[in-house]
Amino acid sequence: MSAARDWHAHYAAGRDFKPLSDTEESVLREHLAVPDGVGNARALEVACGTGEVARLLAGLGYRVDAVDFAEAALERAAAASPSGITYHCLDVTTGGITALRARDGDTYQVITMRRAVAHLPDRTRIVAELGALLAPGGILCVITPHADRQPAQLRGICLDDPEIDMLTGGWEHIERIEAGDSTVLLLRGPGSAGVTYQE
Ligand SMILES: C[S@@+](CC[C@H](N)C(=O)[O-])C[C@H]1O[C@@H](n2cnc3c(N)ncnc32)[C@H](O)[C@@H]1O
Repeated sequence: MSAARDWHAHYAAGRDFKPLSDTEESVLREHLAVPDGVGNARALEVACGTGEVARLLAGLGYRVDAVDFAEAALERAAAASPSGITYHCLDVTTGGITALRARDGDTYQVITMRRAVAHLPDRTRIVAELGALLAPGGILCVITPHADRQPAQLRGICLDDPEIDMLTGGWEHIERIEAGDSTVLLLRGPGSAGVTYQE
């Protein structure tokens, strides 16, 4: 799937994607806790689907912006979410992320993107753009199915090691955790070389 209308139809039919595994959830809880001394911490959840990770981040204490371009996903997410999460209908490949920054100029302590990066054209650029939205010391957490641990017919939704290396080139600190069929990447700045924003 690549077009917003296809994703929308999937969610409008009441269908979902693979929920967080226990391992993924404990990795997120362990590594994405609100940093000590940060009041009003903010998180951005990219390609949020029906909002499972957004709700986890809100539960950790973040004020959350969550974005997706499938309207049906956002409707279902909003209906199932507590306050503290704001959903935005944005295509992250066409400047939507820049618009998010322009809204209030704020940055995020945590940015997450689960099971979506393999679907994005020009994913290295988008990951760099997300890096430019991180607060100093912030973490970009990308979770992707790994090609070595998926059936061949699902290759299109996965990354392999060379693709992961390409995606993470330029990041100062890269932590990689294997979680079942997925790889969790914890990236810390700068990672946004060459990306600038007009305030
Ligand atoms: C496989 S689903 C994963 C959803 C959710 N992150 C999860 O883990 O359940 C991929 C999500 O990426 C979203 N998506 C794909 N391309 C996008 C884009 N260019 N802009 C915004 N969202 C996008 C889809 O609408 C879909 O919700």
